[in-house]
Amino acid sequence: MLAIRADLLDFTATPAWQSTDEAGVRFRPDHWLLVGDDGRILGAQTADPGPDFERHDHRGRLLLPGFIDTHVHGPQLDVIASYGTGLLDWLDTYTFPAELRHADPEVAALGAAHFLDALLAHGTTAAVVFPTVHLASTSALFEAASARNMRLIAGKVLMDRHAPDGLLDDVAGAERDCEALIERWHGQGRNAYAVTIRFAVTSTPEQLAMAGALSRRHPGIYLQTHVAENRDEVRWVAELFPQARSYLDVYHQHGLLHERAVLAHGIWLDAHDRALLRDTGAQIAFCPSSNLFLGSGLFDWQGAVDAGHQVSLASDVGGGTSLSMLRTAAEAYKVQALHGTRLTAWAALHAATRGAAEGLGLSHEIGHLDPGALADVVVWDWAVGAVAGHRDAMARGAVPGVPAQPLHARVFAWMTLGDERNAVARYVAGEQQILEPG
Ligand code: GUN
Ligand code: ZN
Repeated sequence: MLAIRADLLDFTATPAWQSTDEAGVRFRPDHWLLVGDDGRILGAQTADPGPDFERHDHRGRLLLPGFIDTHVHGPQLDVIASYGTGLLDWLDTYTFPAELRHADPEVAALGAAHFLDALLAHGTTAAVVFPTVHLASTSALFEAASARNMRLIAGKVLMDRHAPDGLLDDVAGAERDCEALIERWHGQGRNAYAVTIRFAVTSTPEQLAMAGALSRRHPGIYLQTHVAENRDEVRWVAELFPQARSYLDVYHQHGLLHERAVLAHGIWLDAHDRALLRDTGAQIAFCPSSNLFLGSGLFDWQGAVDAGHQVSLASDVGGGTSLSMLRTAAEAYKVQALHGTRLTAWAALHAATRGAAEGLGLSHEIGHLDPGALADVVVWDWAVGAVAGHRDAMARGAVPGVPAQPLHARVFAWMTLGDERNAVARYVAGEQQILEPG
């Protein structure tokens, strides 16, 4: 059995929007988190649990549930931080050529291992991931996740038009590949399958219909895609699907919106679209660093709250510029500030932990520190470097003459100034993950 000593932070309920009150926030300073031999959380206590437990003493550090990144592209680590283009040019110039390399099973296997270790290094223990159109890259990703016992949701990318040769499938072949992958991986260990439509531009109506049929045939599987990210993209979809009311409606017409559907971006939506998201239970993965980097637009989280649909947070690497969910949260704050809304640390961190788990139907397993959850947890330094160290000292009342600030102030400074350098130790189902340097 394992015990980890740290300041424990998680959520017991959704924090009130735009409130820094601690309702729903569970902060247990200097506690031992107890983990059973089955990798599940037993509870937490202040007393030293004694020698029956292997004790990892991280006193003075912070421990949270591992972050859940609800939209990220493994192979795109090859092109993160590529200069000069908006979405459609960026796909043609950098992304499609990079994804072609992952047709090679060796490239795919090395890439998947590198990618999942990078997620862990950044404090992310679960993710909803796009590999490529190739069966080999999808299998490689599931294999690499199984080797680490990580919670993974992924699926072969569907794209049968408007992409280069070598990245295109066809309806019948894609359906066969999906069926084989579902049979092999869905529900195996901590893997789940997602019908993965790149976006409406790269799938024919026939392929979207096949994806809808697949979703109906396998009721427990997920769906992931992109929607309404970029204005040129939205115009192109309107030309390709003239009968649809909106971009989102293309997916709705093909039976693709449901409670396990994760749609990245959702910047250019209207009130009808938001109501449709609410009514179908589909969620938007907000990807602020990608939206800023590609110049796509400013997602309106307040609009989503008003409409009552689910929002999670995601890196969208390689359109996004960091796998760090702390950086992602800090960018989300800035995007909402441009809308005149202040995103609390509670709302952002909840969306990256318990909120994401609830949206994915996985809150029995991840996203919090309740007894019975798997111990996917990460230990963080409160501050790295002189500037963050000073700010943290101010917040916790360690500077003479300066009173301690409310907990939200300290956590917000951590979220805003922190990144993967703050991550000290990561555990997946109670097993510490020792990563190779680099
Ligand atoms: N839309 C279609 N494909 C992609 C992709 O790979 N990244 C982003 N950000 N948007 C997309
Ligand atoms: Zn994406």
